[in-house]
Amino acid sequence: MDVYEAVRTVLAVRKYQETAVPPDVVRRIVEAAWLTASARNVQPWHFIVVENRETLRQLGALARTGPYIAQAPLAIAVAVEDTPFAVSDASRAIQSMILTAWSEGVGSNWVGFLWPAEVKPLLGIPEELNVLAVLPFGYPAQATGQGKKERKPLGEVAHREHFGQPFECRRRDEGSGTKDGAIPLRRSSFVLRRVARSLFQTRAEIAAGLSSAHIEMRKGVGYGDS
Ligand SMILES: Cc1cc2nc3c(=O)[nH]c(=O)nc-3n(C[C@H](O)[C@H](O)[C@H](O)COP(=O)(O)O)c2cc1C
Repeated sequence: MDVYEAVRTVLAVRKYQETAVPPDVVRRIVEAAWLTASARNVQPWHFIVVENRETLRQLGALARTGPYIAQAPLAIAVAVEDTPFAVSDASRAIQSMILTAWSEGVGSNWVGFLWPAEVKPLLGIPEELNVLAVLPFGYPAQATGQGKKERKPLGEVAHREHFGQPFECRRRDEGSGTKDGAIPLRRSSFVLRRVARSLFQTRAEIAAGLSSAHIEMRKGVGYGDS
């Protein structure tokens, strides 16, 4: 599977088969994290590979937004040092792991964001580190809708040359684009969509710059069933 195909088709997988992930695949997933670039090459991360059933069960019990960790045959906890770019660095490593696993047919997901303190004694993680995420891994228990993603329209988030001048995904060879392949969408539709979305956010949430996804995550809804 090439890189774009992995990015295009990967989805959050929250139900897993009992089948163990083979050791060579586990090794590749961990290497993918280890090989990831970090700001100034500081590598402010640690990856704790968990396959012990009881530990997985306890991780699931701690994870309000990811109890399904308990059913996964494998999880990797990502602990970070207290450095300025640690979250960005480790987020890249997490994406490396998720994509590498996916290219091997193994599903996974990001669970949690800065975990409760109880996870540290469970995994023997030193006090000075923070647990950024725990990723459960396993072969998907049900067919995934490969490539079907719920995303905002590309034209709403991708801009060409100037903010508000949407980038258009239609290719030049599809016919009706402008000379360089761009098909400008009207700024008004962009503004209208922003206003409509804002109606579902409180003023405080908008002020905090929280996206709908972040708000959903903070409220702890929407996770756990798919
Ligand atoms: C930073 C981050 C935190 C996330 N936290 C959780 C989580 O705690 N529990 C969960 O089930 N999914 C979590 N997710 C998964 C997202 O909800 C999911 O990727 C998103 O809804 C898009 O769905 P898709 O990946 O299937 O396209 C998280 C994803 C990211 C990037």
